[in-house]
Amino acid sequence: MRGIGYGGDYNPEQWPESTWAEDVGLMAEAGVNLVTVGVFSWSRLQPAPGELSAGWLDRVLGLLAAAGIGVDLATGTASPPPWLAAEHPEILPVTADGRRLAPGARQHYCPSSPVFRAAAVDLAERMARRYAGHPALTMWHVSNEYGCHIPACYCQTSAAAFRDWLQARYGSLDELNDSWGGAVWSQVYTSWEQIQPPRTAPTYANPAQQLDFARFSSGELLSCFLAERAVLAAHSPGVPVTTNFMGLFRPVDQFRWAPELDVVSVDSYPDPADPESYLLSAMACDLTRSVARLAGTPGQPWVLMEQAPSAVNWRPVNAPKAPGQYRGLSLQAVARGSDAILSFQWRAAAAGAEKFHSGMLPHAGTDSRVWREVTGLGADLGRLAPVAGTPVRAPVALLHDWESWWGLELDSHPARLHLVELLGEFYRPLFEAGVTADFAHTEGDLTGYRLVVVPALYLVSDAGADNVRRFAAAGGTVLVSFFSGIVDPRDRIRLGGYPAPWQDLLGLRVEEFAPLPEGAVVRLDGAAGAGPASGTCRLWQDVIGLRGAEPVLRYASGHLAGQPAATRHPYGAGEACYLGTLPDRSTLRGLLAEACGRAGVEFRTDVPPGVEMVRRGDYRFVISHLDTPADIDLGGRSHDLLSAEHVGPRVVLGPRGVLVLGPLG
Ligand code: GAL
Ligand code: ZN
Repeated sequence: MRGIGYGGDYNPEQWPESTWAEDVGLMAEAGVNLVTVGVFSWSRLQPAPGELSAGWLDRVLGLLAAAGIGVDLATGTASPPPWLAAEHPEILPVTADGRRLAPGARQHYCPSSPVFRAAAVDLAERMARRYAGHPALTMWHVSNEYGCHIPACYCQTSAAAFRDWLQARYGSLDELNDSWGGAVWSQVYTSWEQIQPPRTAPTYANPAQQLDFARFSSGELLSCFLAERAVLAAHSPGVPVTTNFMGLFRPVDQFRWAPELDVVSVDSYPDPADPESYLLSAMACDLTRSVARLAGTPGQPWVLMEQAPSAVNWRPVNAPKAPGQYRGLSLQAVARGSDAILSFQWRAAAAGAEKFHSGMLPHAGTDSRVWREVTGLGADLGRLAPVAGTPVRAPVALLHDWESWWGLELDSHPARLHLVELLGEFYRPLFEAGVTADFAHTEGDLTGYRLVVVPALYLVSDAGADNVRRFAAAGGTVLVSFFSGIVDPRDRIRLGGYPAPWQDLLGLRVEEFAPLPEGAVVRLDGAAGAGPASGTCRLWQDVIGLRGAEPVLRYASGHLAGQPAATRHPYGAGEACYLGTLPDRSTLRGLLAEACGRAGVEFRTDVPPGVEMVRRGDYRFVISHLDTPADIDLGGRSHDLLSAEHVGPRVVLGPRGVLVLGPLG
């Protein structure tokens, strides 16, 4: 594709054929050049086993090809047709409490079912054979949002596959019993057949068993993807393959999946009613960009595969996007590395489960705000063609690891921690200061970053722990939070005080955790003259013994008054900071500003909160997510690609205004 892709999910099978020509004409009017077709078409494509009834799809693809619109063609396997579930009820998924779910919605399949997998591969192969050389075929779209409704299945087939997986992982029952802490609560297995998925039990299921089941379940979904990808690659070598991820979605380990994709894509549905929804969507963009580096072609830009042009239909209350919000969030994705902006869906449905979900072409037709915004964005994206393919470079990385996330949120812990909330706490001040951050895997390449933030990285491998140490030793700045480095990949405590692998790095030892009850707040005082002078904290307190680190903040009330809450420690050519609690937002901002300052990362304090500044290639994006005007210092005059005008050095950006600044030309 040239320039930035623009479009959405197109479901022509929901409409009489007479509307298709109008669709394609309106797509051209809106600047649409890429549509996803066939995601939920299985029952139309295959009314009965052993055939492909695709005349209608031939005609749709022909119309699109003639209009020069590329197609992200789905394999169609996301929702099995009624005949498959009727003939083979064993494909239906089973919940942790043993209920077999009924067909009648979508994604009703057990990922381990050989019958389902064979049927999905059969359809994918028929599609690949038929459309391999089609001029509209731009990319393959395998299934849809793996794990969205059914992240794991607890049926007998899945149980047997889980046992095979465990045998391959542990080799012997002794090894498994030891790893899982079988001696605790009398859980020593004497035969593989005794092992079950972590089904609903009287109280907490074994945490290591739960962690392994999360690994296994992500892997089973990945196997479904790989089976389809193999037939696509065989019949249409060179056509890129994607499947749409869901951002910070717990069940799917994107670091393991991404190397198997050619193009990484994401679906992002921030709640328009949340005044800070742009933060969550920005995190999803940065995460997607980070995992996209692992995909087939390294450094490749990514695709915003789905978003809503306005309201969704699946929250209890579904607010429409505010005027300009669809544009702002779309351009946010471009700023953060996306080369295609797609929506769910092209034409708002008239029937079925999603008829109250917005579409690019609303029920009201083209005389509507949404349509005007849709055509406006198409024109904007046309102007941003020079941005396509350019890289985003982040000076800061937040360490992230799905295995650690699964471990962190297991039950029977000192307190309930929610990773996405914690990531958000550390992400917000960086975002507000115009600092772009990647999400790096614990064992990933950290060279090139100046600051690495480690938020509640509960589980860490030896290699991951070394990686962080080496980064600091080589001159990097590290900021580690409470409840990091606590267990190894088997969910066994790393003994000797916390965080055992990083005590030398941090110059301290945590002896005990003192989580705070909900609503409780403890005062903080500045310690060494450096760092914020005072503040408060909540959620968690570590009992810290200093072993070389210098305190930066101390608790100033409660049982731990006088003891260190935040510290700093030189390490090799770099430095390691520690946070034993969650400070209030302004104190945390102060700590991050300082860490950035010491790491040589520009941290702006003059950007109004709600205004986003991101650099991509030679372009600077300034995006206001505010309903009010914002006064901004651009630091000089530049050329705005969107308005084709010269702007700056100061500019008053209107409500939800956007600038894309390039060199004066
Ligand atoms: C996504 C899904 C789409 C559509 C959309 C509605 O989760 O992939 O098919 O249902 O939600 O918001
Ligand atoms: Zn199953």
